[in-house]
Amino acid sequence: MSKVYLNGEFLDPEQAKVSVFDRGFLLGDGVYEVIPVYDGRCFELSGHLTRLQASLDGVRMKNPHSNAEWEVMIDKLIELNGGGDQSLYLQVTRGVAPRDHVFPEGVTPTAFAMSNPLQAVPEKYKTQGAAAITLADIRWQNCNIKAITLLPNSLLKQQAHEAGALEALLIRDGYLTEGAASNAYVVIDGSIYTAPKDEKVLPGITRDVVVDIARSNNIPLFEQAVTEQQLKDADEIWISSSTKEVVAITQLDNSAVSDGLPGPVWKKMDALYQQYKQKGAV
Ligand SMILES: Cc1ncc(COP(=O)(O)O)c(C=O)c1O
Repeated sequence: MSKVYLNGEFLDPEQAKVSVFDRGFLLGDGVYEVIPVYDGRCFELSGHLTRLQASLDGVRMKNPHSNAEWEVMIDKLIELNGGGDQSLYLQVTRGVAPRDHVFPEGVTPTAFAMSNPLQAVPEKYKTQGAAAITLADIRWQNCNIKAITLLPNSLLKQQAHEAGALEALLIRDGYLTEGAASNAYVVIDGSIYTAPKDEKVLPGITRDVVVDIARSNNIPLFEQAVTEQQLKDADEIWISSSTKEVVAITQLDNSAVSDGLPGPVWKKMDALYQQYKQKGAV
């Protein structure tokens, strides 16, 4: 039986209860993190905890725990859930208060965590890549905050799913921002391009690793947004996220990207990423 964490307690999932007046439930007023766990150890934990703090600051919410407290709680939850490979989810909402758009005073945030077995990246993504469609980026202006308010992302991802695609690649003002649940990259003439870290994209932790790997291995990488046309003409397209790692997009809007197979730069990046995962260093 797996355990979840709620406000200082480790509970069976069915015992973990939150008030209907929690602002996460009524207003989507909360932020979250998803952290991969390999062999019982969190991958890039400090990056995730730093981003959690940035998201909390972005919505003017108090962090219910110090990083040291998060780490102790996380270790215990991973152990209670049997170690190995897990997908760890952390969520903080502003807490329980009478419904009002204006922030309540003196309310304790609700802290929640759960973990599930980490699904291995399907082999077919490695050998064949995956499909994506382009859609208009209908999200808000603060996509750098990892907010639980995911209705636009969910609508976009559902549209991709119904089109038989893994991901929706989002276009804002003529430029590629990112995926509905991933960062995006294109390769043009051997150079990697990914949108800069600003309010239009989530600062992905996997993206940080990809950027570091590229820099330390002299693979040219530019933190520069590409146009929709450059995306359509790209030699390679990739997405990245904590649970999917780096996946080559080989079909875009029902057309093959180059020869329709994962390209050479992706192959190099994936090999280096797997090495990084093993060693925990670039
Ligand atoms: C919109 C969006 N961009 C990027 C990412 C990738 O972030 P990370 O690499 O930290 O998982 C995610 C992850 O879920 C996401 O939802």
